[in-house]
Amino acid sequence: MQIMEKIKNLETNLKERINSAKTKEEIEKIRIELLGRKRGEITLLLKKIPELPLKDRPRVGNLLNKLKKEAEQLLQKKEESFKKGEKVLKKIDITLPGKIPLIGKVHPINQVLNEIKDIFIGLGFEVVVGPEIETEYYNFEALNMPKYHPARDEQDSFYIDSTHLLRTQTSPVQIRVMEKSQPPIRMISPGLCYRRDAIDASHFPVFHQVEGLAVDKNITFADLKGTLTYFVHQMFGKNTRLRFRPSYFPFTEPSAEVDISCIICGGSGCSVCSNKGWLEILGSGMVDPEVFKKVGYDPEKYQGFAFGMGVERICMLKYGIDDIRLFFQNDLRFLSQF
Ligand code: DAH
Repeated sequence: MQIMEKIKNLETNLKERINSAKTKEEIEKIRIELLGRKRGEITLLLKKIPELPLKDRPRVGNLLNKLKKEAEQLLQKKEESFKKGEKVLKKIDITLPGKIPLIGKVHPINQVLNEIKDIFIGLGFEVVVGPEIETEYYNFEALNMPKYHPARDEQDSFYIDSTHLLRTQTSPVQIRVMEKSQPPIRMISPGLCYRRDAIDASHFPVFHQVEGLAVDKNITFADLKGTLTYFVHQMFGKNTRLRFRPSYFPFTEPSAEVDISCIICGGSGCSVCSNKGWLEILGSGMVDPEVFKKVGYDPEKYQGFAFGMGVERICMLKYGIDDIRLFFQNDLRFLSQF
């Protein structure tokens, strides 16, 4: 029976045919092809039923009605799937501006560290990095601070075992460099230092220092003054004044602390400089002959100057930041300003 073959063909291809539609228009086209009132394939077959022998009519009619129902259901399902897709598309407004991704920045401490390095590299200084875990010998003894030296008290330290500690200053790198090389030396050493300080607005148990050292024949205090004056003018501007104030460090003699005229009030007195007009920024001095003796240099032949500065302090002064803790909290509202 020819009609049975046609029904079979339609049955086997129905699903595939309907699912091949890619647009709403294609679905409509398939609907007309199958169920169109005049020339739809299923409609035409239904119209042929009265021509069949009486006994076959119920069976063929049944099959065709089932096929028609299935086609209608499949077409409806397919149509709904398009509608869902349309809804998703409507929610995405492709004309809206995109989100700007967060781009990382250099931490303000590293920005200032880079500036410090650039200034000294420009003067012919070399950048040297030393270990953060130090021996008592390098951190204290070689720097003229023997076991019961009172200066050790100032630096409550984090000990790892009885002879190793987290360095309290970057000064030990001076010793390591002098042990390994001969003058002339011009070096700076940036890095982290650790002290058991209680945390407050100006103290944090971890902080950065930059150590500096120059050793040669005929180095005088004038070289120290000239170098640090150049540094301050580069860092804080040419109008900044310097004051060398006599001080004491076990590894330098004579020693001086360097103050700069207050960058906020220019020296007339304000809350940042506690009405003094001056801000302390670093320690310095001429290398003590005892230190030279420890590394085997002849103090009669060589002289040197050294200095050490706290990077957080310099950064705070430069940008008017009043709390050191801000550098370690990773708050993007703070960091994104630099
Ligand atoms: N290391 C000293 C400190 O932590 C800073 C310092 C002072 C370093 C004088 C020096 C120097 O090299 O000559 O306080």
